[in-house]
Amino acid sequence: MKRIILFIAVVFLFTQCKNTSTETNKTSKNVGFIADSAMVVSAREEASKIGVAILRKGGNAFDAMIATELALAVAYPFAGNIGGGGFMVYRTHEGKTGALDYREKAPLAASKDMYLDENGNIIAEKSTLGAMAVGVPGTVDGLFKVYEKFGSLPFSELIQPAIDLANKGVVVTEKQAERLANYKHYFSEVNDAKILLDADWKAGDTIKYVKLAETLERIRDLGRDGFYKGETAEMLVNYVQKLGGIITKTDLENYEAKWRNPIEFNYKDLKIIAMSPPSSGGICLAQIFKAIEPFDIASYGHNSLKSIQLLTEAERRAYADRSYYLGDPDFVKIPIDTLVSSKYVKNRMANFSWDNATPSSTLKHGNIVGYESDETTHYSIVDKYGNSISATTTLNGAYGSKVYVSEGGFFLNNEMDDFSSKPGVPNMFGLIGAEANSIQPEKRMLSSMTPTIVEKNNQFYMSVGSPGGSTIITSVLQTILNVYEFKMGMQDAVNAPRFHHQWLPDVITMEPKGFDSLLVNQLQEKGYHIKQENTVILGKVDAILRLPNGKLEGGADYRGDDKAAGF
Ligand code: GLY
Repeated sequence: MKRIILFIAVVFLFTQCKNTSTETNKTSKNVGFIADSAMVVSAREEASKIGVAILRKGGNAFDAMIATELALAVAYPFAGNIGGGGFMVYRTHEGKTGALDYREKAPLAASKDMYLDENGNIIAEKSTLGAMAVGVPGTVDGLFKVYEKFGSLPFSELIQPAIDLANKGVVVTEKQAERLANYKHYFSEVNDAKILLDADWKAGDTIKYVKLAETLERIRDLGRDGFYKGETAEMLVNYVQKLGGIITKTDLENYEAKWRNPIEFNYKDLKIIAMSPPSSGGICLAQIFKAIEPFDIASYGHNSLKSIQLLTEAERRAYADRSYYLGDPDFVKIPIDTLVSSKYVKNRMANFSWDNATPSSTLKHGNIVGYESDETTHYSIVDKYGNSISATTTLNGAYGSKVYVSEGGFFLNNEMDDFSSKPGVPNMFGLIGAEANSIQPEKRMLSSMTPTIVEKNNQFYMSVGSPGGSTIITSVLQTILNVYEFKMGMQDAVNAPRFHHQWLPDVITMEPKGFDSLLVNQLQEKGYHIKQENTVILGKVDAILRLPNGKLEGGADYRGDDKAAGF
């Protein structure tokens, strides 16, 4: 599995890297798609256009979110879903902010040691591949929560474009054909019969998702019960149990998405609004921004030695805290106020030195008295009324658990791997967890998804987010810094080469060809370990920036088939 991910990453990066040298980046001006007042940026053109059609009809950003998310479930089965979950952060035209958690939950029959053998060792792939890896899906309930609170057009009008797209079919892109070819063998390994995507699909072919269209029709006609009860629930539960999984009808009936208070903090004159637990995104982002705030990072230069050192040391400390303190807030007490306070973060940075790297082995989580796929997809939307949303949704790994409910036409997630199966042992992103993120029935697994909205002068400034598992947080961070500190436009900020550090493993992962060898040598001399060859893609950012003239610039990541649309 890891080899396949690496292979795809290498193919992506070596076949498509353009403007990735630091040199090119200093001078390049890739202006993204510009719109007067409304925009959707997502992983597929079909989904962006469907969202924009809703906005043109007079629908708001929340209506467009529902249509876009459902269109991604059809056009982008790699990560778009109805069998997964996600998070959404919003800011209304009145400046009101909020967040929705439609993250998957552990089934009622889940238990702390469910992925361990009798000797207490992790059973390979049990939490990533097949029916035992599946968490109770949250996407459909999440969309109905959004609709109840903010929907303005009839729900049937929001879901119909996805149904029509599924029946008409979606043209396979080059990148999709490559992905399908690489993951195909898992489909037959996991499922008990051939599935729709397990054919020899080539770029230019059209795949019709007829069974998925039928499921979407049931959701259109019966509301959330069209997924969580009746025919669809029966198909899902019967198939998961047939393959040895533990999800029951009660799990589906009980699932509820939750409104949460987002993490809000200031960085200089920006106000940043990001996802709260059970995502680690907002807290880690806040900690990193607070750690770098006292430094004049703009004067160091983009991706310079000093910038990379500073960000790496801030990231190292934030991810160490993530591992220890963060988990589902409905199950564990998280000292959020302390973790994001300037005083605590300053103290964490006290042993930072420009001379040498701080080895991760010498750094643990901070002490708080009294008191934690990568194949995700992000989209950003702004409507003509001034509402904005930032949403990240996922099946976790590519095509999730690879379990495909053929009768219903959808994949199921493998989100259970985001729990800490065994404290101290890394998950598929190399993230190490502790008790706070241990498995319990109905608990939500910790996430790194970081849908984020940025305000400047009390006005919408940016909507940004990314897939990429543990690298999501640092991709969002660097994109905001690229615009705000390094004065790039939105598309340049998205295109710029990225790097990542997550405490353990103690390495800076860099996009190949994005960083010159002199810089790499200088970092190594200071004790930094660099991983540059065969690295995975570091995020795939889709973002919208409000320009000084009030227009919007989209940043659609060239690393995928992503596209901005608007008017
Ligand atoms: N499944 C990736 C994440 O939630 O961070």
